[in-house]
Amino acid sequence: MAGNLKGLVLSGGAGTRLRPITHTSAKQLVPVANKPVLFYGLEALRDAGIREVGIIIGDTGDEIRAAVGDGSALGIEVTFIPQSAPLGLAHAVLTAEEFLGDDDFVMYLGDNLLRDGITPLVDRFRESDPDAMILLQQVPNPESYGVAVLDGDRVVILEEKPAEPKSDLALVGVYMFTSAILDAAKAIEPSPRGELEITDAIQYLIDQGKRVEPHVVTGWWKDTGKVEDMLEANRLILDVIEPSMEGELVNSNIEGRVVIQKGARLVNSHVRGPAVIGQDAIIEDSYVGPYSSISTGCVVRRAEIEHSILLERVHIEDLDARVESSLIGRDVTISRTDAKPRAYRFVLGDSSVIGLT
Ligand code: DAU
Repeated sequence: MAGNLKGLVLSGGAGTRLRPITHTSAKQLVPVANKPVLFYGLEALRDAGIREVGIIIGDTGDEIRAAVGDGSALGIEVTFIPQSAPLGLAHAVLTAEEFLGDDDFVMYLGDNLLRDGITPLVDRFRESDPDAMILLQQVPNPESYGVAVLDGDRVVILEEKPAEPKSDLALVGVYMFTSAILDAAKAIEPSPRGELEITDAIQYLIDQGKRVEPHVVTGWWKDTGKVEDMLEANRLILDVIEPSMEGELVNSNIEGRVVIQKGARLVNSHVRGPAVIGQDAIIEDSYVGPYSSISTGCVVRRAEIEHSILLERVHIEDLDARVESSLIGRDVTISRTDAKPRAYRFVLGDSSVIGLT
């Protein structure tokens, strides 16, 4: 293999399944345990010894640039690569052709999370030197993913979201490629959904007799494309979070694994972990239950929250039922007033979902 190994992180695309959050912001920046999903991927690349990372960006590019900066805070050197439109994962690879040159690279989908990182997998790729390496995991719903059929340890068929999957092995969103993938991406045609599919490009490599090595990932893996997956990823990360205390407790108590970030203030409240309370958040006369991630600047007063992600500066006040299994976007306010007539008053963005009891 070529000496240098680069990273290519895909952070463009539309994010339709996480609307309304993604009407206005990038799905890769939705926080899991108060850290953008994208950062877990960038850190996994860094931990595997990769320094040069290209990030594919689309309509939400400005926001991604602002969050990542030049990458030095994460220990990497970042090059942003604007993609004209989300025309497919293989199209994204072609967009990055100049950045990639003829180096080998790890392609990492910016909304994917792998518990165990990728270091041993990258080492294996370096040692075994195949034309490409794909990661797989058994899933109950393979029709939602790229699906691989193996014959022993050989990949024979790859299909993108087939209606009738021929196996239950889904393609994990981390791939290791040599520059052979560029020729493959140039050779294929767009799929019925109009995208240049990476699955088709890898199938092309197989058909050309190239060596595509499969590796089944055993630690948990999450594609955070949907709200349920986001909440699950949040649970999985909070389960292993290191407790810490940088805020202030006034007549409050905390139980279990809890991270209280700088400047957070808890007054007359109870927090039962695993949970994280973000910078400068205020929790007053409230209960925060397991699997809650409360972001920077949130205010929770006289309310109960459990198993939820609150993005920055959410205000929740005076609710008489617990907020549960919710993903709440930036600057949202939910409160109760005594104003008459007694009525619900909503100012909601497109595709908002409200569940009332
Ligand atoms: O998560 C694993 C799955 O990811 C694989 O099993 C599938 O084979 C693969 O096609 C992909 O499926 P998704 O439908 O989940 O891909 P999505 O459109 O969500 O895009 C994945 C990431 O790549 C996301 O962060 C957005 C970014 N992206 C996507 C496209 C289509 C781009 O940057 N540019 C693009 O053109």
